[in-house]
Amino acid sequence: SSTKLWGGRFTGATDPLMTIYNESIHYDRHMHSADVQGSKAYAKALQLRGILTEHERDELLRGLDLVEAEWQSNTFKIVPGVDEDIHTANERRLGELIGTNISGKLHTGRSRNDQVATDMRIWLRTKLQDIEAILVDLLRAHVGRAEQDMDVLMPGYTHLQRAQPIRWSHWVMCHAYVFASDLERLRQLYKRVNKCPLGSGALAGNPFEVDREFLAKELGFDGVVGNSLLGVSDRDFILETLQWASLAMNHISKWAEDLIIYSTAEFGFIQLADAYSTGSSLMPQKKNPDSLELLRGKSGRVFGQMAGFMMTTKGLPSTYNKDLQEDKEPLFDCVRTVSDSFQIATGVLSTLKINQQKMRDALTMDMLATDLADYLVRRGVPFRETHHISGAAVRLAEEKGYSGIDKLSLQDYKTLCPVFEEDVHVEVFDFEKSVEKRAAIGGPARHRVLKQIEEVKAILG
Ligand code: ARG
Repeated sequence: SSTKLWGGRFTGATDPLMTIYNESIHYDRHMHSADVQGSKAYAKALQLRGILTEHERDELLRGLDLVEAEWQSNTFKIVPGVDEDIHTANERRLGELIGTNISGKLHTGRSRNDQVATDMRIWLRTKLQDIEAILVDLLRAHVGRAEQDMDVLMPGYTHLQRAQPIRWSHWVMCHAYVFASDLERLRQLYKRVNKCPLGSGALAGNPFEVDREFLAKELGFDGVVGNSLLGVSDRDFILETLQWASLAMNHISKWAEDLIIYSTAEFGFIQLADAYSTGSSLMPQKKNPDSLELLRGKSGRVFGQMAGFMMTTKGLPSTYNKDLQEDKEPLFDCVRTVSDSFQIATGVLSTLKINQQKMRDALTMDMLATDLADYLVRRGVPFRETHHISGAAVRLAEEKGYSGIDKLSLQDYKTLCPVFEEDVHVEVFDFEKSVEKRAAIGGPARHRVLKQIEEVKAILG
């Protein structure tokens, strides 16, 4: 029989390519701590049911700590062709350290199926905690920026055409709300990740009536997966993480796109710090926003991982199938991409310089055409009519060769509509006033932006 963990019934050799094709050790070794934690809890649970003596349990705990210490000190030697995955590698090494008489009892009633599902959840929840902290940092950077740059006005755009004046802080807070929702979704998702499948066996449950609630508690889970068939097969917690990440990266990408546009010479609203830019190998004058382009670009790879694993799982029959081993690479890569991306985004936002003058210069009087119409509305003229009058003002200013509608005289205005008064110029042609008039909830008026900041801060906790 073969030297493989499951080799008992096998006589023929494995195709060497099949061995490589089958193994997952070169990536699932990253879960070594989770695997050791799970095994330690399981050893304790077996002892509680009388399957192990106290001495055997203690030997297992000691050995498992030694295994983990080897991983920590980078001295764990993977045996190629034998160590198929992290579970078999750890068990093999445990046997060498404490003897197979005792190590051979650890897997009683357990399967790699409930083992791997448990490891993945332990591994992932730690990463989600890290990502939560990183996301909170990103949000703090937004809030800090919005507070600090409150006086800065800029054009707001629709269709990428100058539309109406807003505060730069208003733009910042738009994205902050989006990331705050990502944070809330992450916290909800975490609850579904943190359920314990250990004690589900291969599929049909545990024959030694191992105490699953004890296992869950011991491993810091909030509860158990309530069905053993589901326990070994459920990867919704991974799919949901990939979907969560796809949406979050969608947000990061859009955020990056705005900033890429704002950083062009044509806009010149912002300048990235050197720490987040790179030069050109050919053109000495270039400073490229590579950080932002990678944030935009890497969103594609996360969507792909999500879509790929959705397809892997969609037609599977119930319980464990080896296809599920394909959950790891997309998840690991996605988690790293998201963590790195949020950190880069935080760095970019907190170090970029804004060019207040450029933003001001991009505000043009025609952007106050709506305010001109609103002026008449406040004096009783129906909006549809005022819209026409204001449009006529834009045309008239153009015909007269003026630089903007503010250059039309009161006389000109009176010919367009007798309701116009002397105060039209001071009331309407002031960007700050325009912004401050937008004082309904969610608007760019200073106190409303401050309110937004308060709301987002409350979500951060
Ligand atoms: N490496 C495997 C995985 O990641 C562990 C479970 C193997 N189970 C099995 N029945 N072959 O899914």
